[in-house]
Amino acid sequence: MRISEKPVALRLKELGVELRAGVSLSEKTSLGIGGTTDELLLRRFETIPEVMRLLANERIPYRFLGGGTNVLVDDGELPWIVLHLPTSQPGMRVEGNAAYVDAAADLGGMVTFCAKHDLGGMEGLIGVPGSVGGALRMNAGAYGTQIGSYVREVELYRAASGEIETVRGNDIRFDYRHTSFAPDDVMLRVKLELPSKPFKEILAGIRVCNEKRRASQPLNQKSAGCIFKNPAGGSAGRMIDELGLKGHRAGDAMVSDRHANFFINAGTASCADMLRLIDDVRERVHKNFGVELENEVILWKN
Ligand code: EPU
Repeated sequence: MRISEKPVALRLKELGVELRAGVSLSEKTSLGIGGTTDELLLRRFETIPEVMRLLANERIPYRFLGGGTNVLVDDGELPWIVLHLPTSQPGMRVEGNAAYVDAAADLGGMVTFCAKHDLGGMEGLIGVPGSVGGALRMNAGAYGTQIGSYVREVELYRAASGEIETVRGNDIRFDYRHTSFAPDDVMLRVKLELPSKPFKEILAGIRVCNEKRRASQPLNQKSAGCIFKNPAGGSAGRMIDELGLKGHRAGDAMVSDRHANFFINAGTASCADMLRLIDDVRERVHKNFGVELENEVILWKN
């Protein structure tokens, strides 16, 4: 969607928003897949409600893009613009056992920043790519750690009220790769409470997780992490592997040779290729195991 020629572009500029026209989201996503649209870079938290009101009045559909590491974006000219949250540098600070972090900050950067302040607990999240906001929305987890366990407060823009609100951790439900945030809530900042731990000990835990990850996941290829959620008591990766589907393709979309729940862009895969592969694998798993796999990757298709 193109808005750079519209009068609203001027008003957005006055609000300190930077507009980039005709951006290919294939350059913004870890899968290297995605069509083209205009992009807005929000510079100040305080202006968010006004920017959102403006977009609503002008009936301009939008989506917030974080790290782009868990999203499969449609091909071609996209019918919505993309918004990016503001972040300060380094976007995080520590006070006692509390860490205050911008949603746009890098998740791995947050884990190491806290570690340097002798705050641990999140070692398992070290290799999970993406932004803190994306991790919060999905309750990202790995190696026994889920970010939700440490959340004390989330500051968010609530589209329903049009206001910036602070929600207490106890009032948010964090389940396996699912949270009770409304789909149009926009995470802005989070307060975490973390256990004290000596830096050296945290570092040792981080090393163990990094090694496990390197041994089992295709880290140097274009992917969105695991494509499917694990079914209760089961493993999507193991089932896909047992069906002999490693290396199975639809165009340039391919089931990783290394971990069968990672689907790779092995060249110039389109969203259509990836969706064909996802459907094909889901059907085969259903036919053979009677299990209906649910997407973990978030699909941005209209
Ligand atoms: N397995 C296979 N073949 C494969 C892949 C896995 O046989 O190709 C087997 C493994 O040997 C193991 C079992 O399946 O016995 C589980 O595999 P793994 O330990 O790799 O964990 P996972 O359940 O596949 C989950 C998360 C990952 C997270 C790891 C480590 C989901 C969908 N995936 O993977 O998260 O990194 O545990 O904690 O919950 C993600 O969310 O994108 C993600 C990658």
